[in-house]
Amino acid sequence: MTDIITTEIDTGGIATLTMDMPGRSMNVLSEDSIAAIANAARAVIADDKVKGVILASAKRDFIAGADLDMLLGLEGAEEVFEKMYEIQSLFREIETCGKPFVACINGMALGGGYEITLACHHRIAAQDARAQIGLPEALVGLMPGAGGTQRLPRLIGIRPALPLLLEGRKLRVEDALAAGLIDAITSKDQLLAEAKRWLTDVGDPVQPWDKKGYKIPGGGVQAPSGYETFVPGNAMLRDRTLGNYPNALAIMSSVYEGLQTTIDVGLRVETRYFTQVVRTPQAKAMIRTLFFSMQEANKLTRRPSEVPKAEFKKIGVLGAGLMGAGIAHVSALAGIEVALIDVDREAAEKGKAVSASILERMVKRKRMDSEVRDSILERINPTNEYKDLTGADLVIEAVFEDRAIKADVTNKAEAAIGKEAIFASNTSTLPITGLAEASARPGNFIGLHFFSPVDRMPLVEIIPGAKTSDTALAHAMDFVKAIGKTPIVVGDARGFFTSRVFATYTREGLAMLAEGVNPALIENAGRIAGMPMGPLELSDVVSIGLMDHVVKQTKADLGKDYRAGPGDEVIALFAGTLGRTGKKAGKGFYDYPAEGPKRLWPDLGKHFARASEQPDVELVKRRLMHIQGVETARCVEENVVTDPRDADVGSILGWGFAPFTGGVLSYIDMVGTKVFVAECEALAKDFGPRFAPPTLLRDMAAKGKGFYQ
Ligand code: NAI
Repeated sequence: MTDIITTEIDTGGIATLTMDMPGRSMNVLSEDSIAAIANAARAVIADDKVKGVILASAKRDFIAGADLDMLLGLEGAEEVFEKMYEIQSLFREIETCGKPFVACINGMALGGGYEITLACHHRIAAQDARAQIGLPEALVGLMPGAGGTQRLPRLIGIRPALPLLLEGRKLRVEDALAAGLIDAITSKDQLLAEAKRWLTDVGDPVQPWDKKGYKIPGGGVQAPSGYETFVPGNAMLRDRTLGNYPNALAIMSSVYEGLQTTIDVGLRVETRYFTQVVRTPQAKAMIRTLFFSMQEANKLTRRPSEVPKAEFKKIGVLGAGLMGAGIAHVSALAGIEVALIDVDREAAEKGKAVSASILERMVKRKRMDSEVRDSILERINPTNEYKDLTGADLVIEAVFEDRAIKADVTNKAEAAIGKEAIFASNTSTLPITGLAEASARPGNFIGLHFFSPVDRMPLVEIIPGAKTSDTALAHAMDFVKAIGKTPIVVGDARGFFTSRVFATYTREGLAMLAEGVNPALIENAGRIAGMPMGPLELSDVVSIGLMDHVVKQTKADLGKDYRAGPGDEVIALFAGTLGRTGKKAGKGFYDYPAEGPKRLWPDLGKHFARASEQPDVELVKRRLMHIQGVETARCVEENVVTDPRDADVGSILGWGFAPFTGGVLSYIDMVGTKVFVAECEALAKDFGPRFAPPTLLRDMAAKGKGFYQ
């Protein structure tokens, strides 16, 4: 334990406690490290020679947060409460000991890692472009449990603190300073000197909230500003979470109740709420998927390990449209040179202009220097000549979704690149093995499926074809990591994983519309179930025209084997006869007036007679969610998905599947496999065989198994 913290006391009586957890790349608050902090802090507090204390880190970052394994390992409410309250008491002891503590935040300080600095009397951060400071617990279904909901509002005010707590925002150091989360910024090499200077010159050992006459900045809960914050705040919270996130309500309640009392009582209030929240199924599912599974995906745990890591200096992108421009942009941003090819220079230039405008916005918002912008743009070479691909380690095609065009550009590119280079297709629907038939080197051919808008969507679906080599797969994963995205690896079947399952959600919405279900009910049920948009709105955003194109392509590919999908006729009507192709066209299932918000197209009722008996909202929700679950289970059965973590991460990152469930397979576990199967059987009887649970699920239900047990 002594290894975790080293204590140095200088001749002036300033003690520096430096944290450096052995065998870990980052410091975290774990059972051991908390005990080490307690021992070291208590020793210097008791030492008469010591006048002030510096808390520092020997790692690249300060403290990354609490050890989630430790939190999940705690059993029973009592154990959680005791453990958390022990931490609260330790932090309280530090801030009331009578000696000033300074936190030297040399990098990331998140969650518990920031909360410990709030218990210090002064916070100095090092200038570091990649550092982030904040309380992101809400993002994994948790809440701050080491004083965050009590100290942050007491430090900066309730109103500015609430969004930081509820949305788990991570701030860059400059923004953290402006918001009052830290007191000063200095260069990395001046950090300790600045801390000592503060201890010598100021060294105030009393927290603002422990001073006589302390008032909450901006007013307390019962002040008029408190009413103005909590009344609309509660409504907003309800609107955004629709009751699906118990942690959000707990954060709000903890602030509301805790800020009306003393800090000591407030900390107990927080611990109580934390104890409830950490034991909810939502927190468990979110931590599993959004923390652990994401971390594993980002560490490329499924990468063929024998293949040496690939570096990417230059890539080629074919097609400078919506997707190609985005892929070129994120690659250049990651320091990779890009030859961006389209049919003529003008089209290629247009693609590069997309990047220029995204970067310009960042410069305007002071998020980037203009020199950095220029150097990123310099890396993109817009061209129509394949010889410019020379030296590319990877080529990604994002031309029209047309087999013949894709085959043509594959041949041209392969003639210009080295034998080792990888060729990837960004197709959204066409099976990779089929596309690879056009390739002279199918071993190097792979699917890299990006999501729109590429600069904001974090997921890339990787699809090896039947002949794709392990080297190509490993290198494709290396590339996805190099551009800072999260990869999942899925099997090569029509629609792969994400497009296939996502489509069942929109299609179920269309099926209900055709049955005469009230469109407002369909839309609201989707949102209440936790989806980011209702299925009709989502269809508009994706474009009904594109859905129509996919239907036609699938019909052409499958011929007499084609089975009509739910809502086929609705798509044909809107994309064809009515010419209402979606949001981009300004009209689809919704109208998009230039002024004012969108609204459901009033004439929907003319085309789909309203059924006299409307279903219960629970049934509508169940149809919209179960259909995605059952289709994913089929993907597992067919080996399109081989690891439940891929399905869960992919569903949340790819199409925003209700995050509180932990993803589409966690959702089945949450419902319970047995119940899920029984409900799907009932739905299949009423609405068609698309709901029929596959054998895999039936077997799991019979054995009482879930995807994570
Ligand atoms: P787009 O229509 O915006 O862009 C296609 C670009 O390819 C155009 O600039 C066109 O001039 C260019 N192009 C066409 N033929 C070419 C050729 N022979 N040589 C060079 N360039 C050529 O299409 P988008 O949306 O960017 O889609 C591209 C690919 O990405 C398609 O396969 C699509 O299925 C797939 N995809 C699309 C997504 C989306 O949300 N739009 C999401 C994921 C994949």
